[in-house]
Order: sequence, then structure tokens, then C-alpha cells
Amino acid sequence: MTLLFDLATAVMRRLPPEQAHHLTICSLAAGVAPRSAPPDPASLAVTLWNRRFPNPVGLAAGFDKNAEVPDAMLGFGFGFVECGTVTPRPQPGNPSPRLFRLREDRALVNRLGFNNAGLEAARARLLARRGRPGIVGANIGKNKDSADAIADFVAGVAALAPLADYLVVNVSSPNTPGLRDLQRKSILLDLIGALTRARELAVGTTDPPPLLLKIAPDLTEAERAEIAEAALETGIDGLVVSNTTVARPASLRSPLARETGGLSGPPLFAASTALLAEMRRLTHGRLPIVGVGGVASGADAYAKIRAGASLVQLYTALVYEGPGLVSRIKRDLAALLARDGVAALVDAVGADVPLATTTSGSQRHAG
Ligand code: FNR
Repeated sequence: MTLLFDLATAVMRRLPPEQAHHLTICSLAAGVAPRSAPPDPASLAVTLWNRRFPNPVGLAAGFDKNAEVPDAMLGFGFGFVECGTVTPRPQPGNPSPRLFRLREDRALVNRLGFNNAGLEAARARLLARRGRPGIVGANIGKNKDSADAIADFVAGVAALAPLADYLVVNVSSPNTPGLRDLQRKSILLDLIGALTRARELAVGTTDPPPLLLKIAPDLTEAERAEIAEAALETGIDGLVVSNTTVARPASLRSPLARETGGLSGPPLFAASTALLAEMRRLTHGRLPIVGVGGVASGADAYAKIRAGASLVQLYTALVYEGPGLVSRIKRDLAALLARDGVAALVDAVGADVPLATTTSGSQRHAG
């Protein structure tokens, strides 16, 4: 069955990228999707935030912005799916063209600018799937023309905390002016404080969805340190590292690399993995980290895990390889764990980034 989908992926790659994406979502929403994936090896299971992930390979935000196809994507074998980014009001995003395939680099550049149908539409869809199995998170953002960023994020938490298995606060898209300034410590303290209160108002304190912060790979050393301090001081539940980059590594070969926007795929792997390792060090291993950026193989996923990721996500590789990639990554990851004598994935988390013994602590939410 996935062979068929991989074939469809090859056909889709001949269409302009946004048209191909639209057609993919429409087909999946219409029911052209596998019913369920085979069970995962026990070694791949991860329990975090009182939630059991059958495997650590998730679908990154941006693929299913409007929560239209989370169950279809779970059916391809993802261990979890992140919908969004959703903003309070619907917005069209930037003018087209705004999504580019850098074929030679197996990468993408996008400057979509949070095109999405708004909170109400996402809420209705998540409500309709309530009670179904599978971990579905929601990634929230602010409208481009909003005067009060914190109020926008509060609205996201209020609407989606009752329905999402986890929430991601996206302060790191390069395509919404001013958004990344929210990564400053003083603002983060206010923002996370307000969101924690909003979450409590929405769902109380019994097993609320964890609140994660998604950060950019283009931060200075001082900014990285500030985020780590804010994360530890506020009691945020985890980090997602990282969003797309505005940098353009010298290795890029595609002429489309010159397009403005966020770069994703293999050229982002090294920078996002280095940032992941550094955030693990700066937060003393106390916060679970979701590693994302350039994952295209089981070895990539394993490298992220060994750098400190408890879970990984991908998007760009799916565009080039099709959904059969998910099973291949899981198979290869399980083989790598077996090769290294690791019985449970959690034992490999951060293996390449030992923590100073004076400051290390066990992962607060790991279980
Ligand atoms: C994204 N990404 C993204 N992230 C986010 O937090 N909110 C979003 O709406 C989007 N939208 C989006 C659209 C497109 C077309 C792409 C390619 C990416 C970023 C994504 O979730 C991820 O962080 C990066 O793409 C890095 O992972 P990959 O793609 O290299 O596996």
C-alpha cells in the first residue's frame, strides 16, 4: 500500500509544490489513506508527559496546518502528528509563489507566512476526532496583523488545550515579522506565564497537555542562554528544536536557495542538531526535547536522539521520499538500537552529550 503512496509522491513532485501539497491533503481528507500501521517494536516506545508514544517519529508542523488529516498521517506509522501552525483568525499568508523545491539539495524554502483557516476551524476538526487513538499535538501562532502577540497565543491555548495531546508555542517561524523577537527572555517569561494560566483555566491542573516552545536555529549564544533560563524558570514542559533557518549553508547547489524564507531538509540537519545538543546542555537534560530538522533516515533520527532528543519530527523528507519513509526510518532505528544493545530508546537519549555531574538531573517528565 505504501508503495502506491510512494508512487503518488513521484507523480506529485511533477506538480508545483503548493499545488501538490493541496492535492495531497485533499486526497487524504477524502479517505485515500491507509487504515492503520502495523505495531511498532517495543524498543521504539517512549513515555513522556504521561503520554505513550508508540514510536518517536512524528510529523512536524506545517504539513497539516488545519488539522484536516491527522488520522491519515498516523495511519502511515507516525508516532505522533503535530497540526498547525494555527492563528486565532484565518489568514491567507504571503503571496505566491512562496514554497520552493531545492531539488539538488533535497531541501525546501518556504515563506508561506502562516496561511491557515484559524482556530475555530482547527478546533472543530479536533473536536470531531476526539476519543480516537493516536497522539495529535497543536502548534499555535499569532496573526500577522495582531497588535497583541500574547493575547493571540492565549486564545490558541484556550481553544485547543482541551483537545490537543500537547501544545507547541511557535515563536520561531521566520515568515511572520517580529515573531522571533518573542524568544527574548523577558518576553518569554510573560508569554509562558500567561499561557500556563490560560491552560489551567481551560483544563485545570489534572493531566493538562504539555506546553512546548519551538525555537529557531538562527539564535545568538546569548539568545540561546536566555531561552534555556526562561524554560527552566517558567516550568515549560519541553522544547522543539528547531524551526526552519534563514541561513544558507555554502553547500547548497539549487539556484532557488536565493529565495527568501525558511530552509528545511538535510542542509538544516547539522545546525539544528548542534542546537539540540546545546539546549540539552544548557537545560541540564531536565527538559524533554523534540528534535526536528533534516531527518531523512533512521541514522538521522538516531543522531538526534543521541544528541538529546526524546522524540523526532520530519516534514521535508516526506516530500522527496513519500510516506514509506516512516516505516524505513523506524525499521532502521530499531536495528541501530539493537546493534548498540539499547533495549529502550530512552536509554539512548543524549548518549553523545554527557552532562556535567554537578548539574545533571534526571529528565523531569520522563517516565
Ligand atoms: C514548515 N515548518 C513549520 N513549523 C511550524 O512550527 N509551523 C508551521 O506552520 C510550519 N510550516 C512549514 C511549512 C513548510 C512547507 C515547511 C517545509 C516547514 C517547519 C517544520 O515544522 C520543521 O521545523 C522544519 O521544516 C524542519 O524539519 P524538516 O522539514 O527538515 O524535516
